[in-house]
Parts: sequence; C-alpha cells; structure tokens
Amino acid sequence: MRFIVTENYEEMSYIAAQETAKFIRENPKLVLGLSTGGTPLGTYQELIKLHEKEKLDFSQVVTFNLDEYIGLEPNHPQSYTRYTWDNFLSKVNIQKQNVHIPPGIFNDDKQVLKEYDQKMLEAGGIDVQVLGVGGNGHIGFNEPSELLNSHTHIASLTDKTIKDNARFFSNIEEVPRKAIAMGVGSILKAKHIIFIANGSEKADAVKKTFNGRITTDCPSSLLQLHANLTVILDKKAAKLLN
Ligand code: F6R
Repeated sequence: MRFIVTENYEEMSYIAAQETAKFIRENPKLVLGLSTGGTPLGTYQELIKLHEKEKLDFSQVVTFNLDEYIGLEPNHPQSYTRYTWDNFLSKVNIQKQNVHIPPGIFNDDKQVLKEYDQKMLEAGGIDVQVLGVGGNGHIGFNEPSELLNSHTHIASLTDKTIKDNARFFSNIEEVPRKAIAMGVGSILKAKHIIFIANGSEKADAVKKTFNGRITTDCPSSLLQLHANLTVILDKKAAKLLN
C-alpha cells in the first residue's frame, strides 16, 4: 500500500491522473475501472489534458464503470452513463465498443447482471480501478451491511448515500434508491487500485478504511487486503489517519 497525501484536490487529481496514465502507457489495452461522483472529476480533467497535450492514447483502452442508477435513461443528466461520457470519455479517443456501463433501464435483471460480469471476465478483469469512497465507507454502492456481494448486483442505497448524492439532483426525492453495482469481489480482483478521497467530510471514512478493523460495516476497509493499492488523499481527507 502506497500513501500519497497532497495539499489539495487539484494536486490529488493531477497525481491520480499521472498514475493512471503511467498504466495506460505501459499497457495500451488497459482495462480501466471507472468511478463517478465528485471525487474523480478532476482526475478525468487531467487525463483529458494528457490526451490533448501529450497524446495519451485511449484507442485500445477498455473501461468498466462501477455502477449506474436504476431507472435513469442513459441520457438523463444525472445518469452515470451521461456523467462518464460528458466528463471524460467523449473528450478522449476511446472506442465506443470498449466502454461498459451497466444499464439503468432493463427488462431482465438477472441477464443484465450476468452479462456485466461475463464481459469483465472476457476482458480479463480490471487492471486498474479508480475508486472513490462514500462518507459511510461504501465503494461503488456496496453499502455497509452484514453481507456484501462479490458479483454485480442490485444495490439499495442507504439514507446517508441518498442524502449525500441529493446535491446532484434538484431534490432528494429524485435520487434513485437502487443501482446496479459491481461487487466487492470484482473490485478486489482489480490488479491495481487507485483510491482517491478529498475533503474533511471523507476523513472519518478514510480513517475507518485504513486504520480501522476490516469489517463489512465499512466496505472500504476490505481494501486493506489488497496488495497493490495506491492511496491518494488531500490533506483534509487524511487528517485523522495515524
Ligand atoms: C460512484 C461510486 C461511489 C462514489 C462515492 C463517493 O461510481 O463508486 O462509491 O465513489 O459515492 O462519491 P463522491 O465522489 O461524489 O463523494
């Protein structure tokens, strides 16, 4: 586990993008796991800059998103499909067929879940996962619970997550209550994880993730078991770490 504590969000984003770019340069066919939400926005902006200024090549990169809200059309302003294309993928030279995001609207849930895991398997699993964390320690909507799912599944958002994510919607009622989420098994199988967190509101979750006991009550604490983890935090998120 490697810890990097930065001065601020901008520096965290810059370093996370440089780390990701290093992996892409080493392996142009990298299978990259993508997170959404506020945390990785700066990282994606830096990756776009690297594409524009240094010709970082995404033409063979394959991506898998961690999750999608159930009930939102792909072009809904708050869908993670729209987020990922608008904030990142439409601005680099990725090929559409290499992008995988769970659907928010579907008929056969079992089929959708099975297919997503199957596609990940066929791609050889995630090489590098960019990972944020929820204020309650959720990773990719794997919420605190007695039991966690290993595979892609339908996740129920906790009240805390619904409240936290309401900032992106016009009101809290609009926040979907369910999502399709990659399982913790798939996340932990990623060959490398780049964990990013910023701001004081994440300090407690960060402490529980790395200084606490390993427990499904804090799904991110399972990351302590991962052998290739790069943790990039701004100093506010790192302030409670021992
Ligand atoms: C979303 C995801 C979530 C977020 C978490 C933090 O794809 O994986 O686990 O990383 O909810 O969200 P922000 O970054 O908005 O604080």
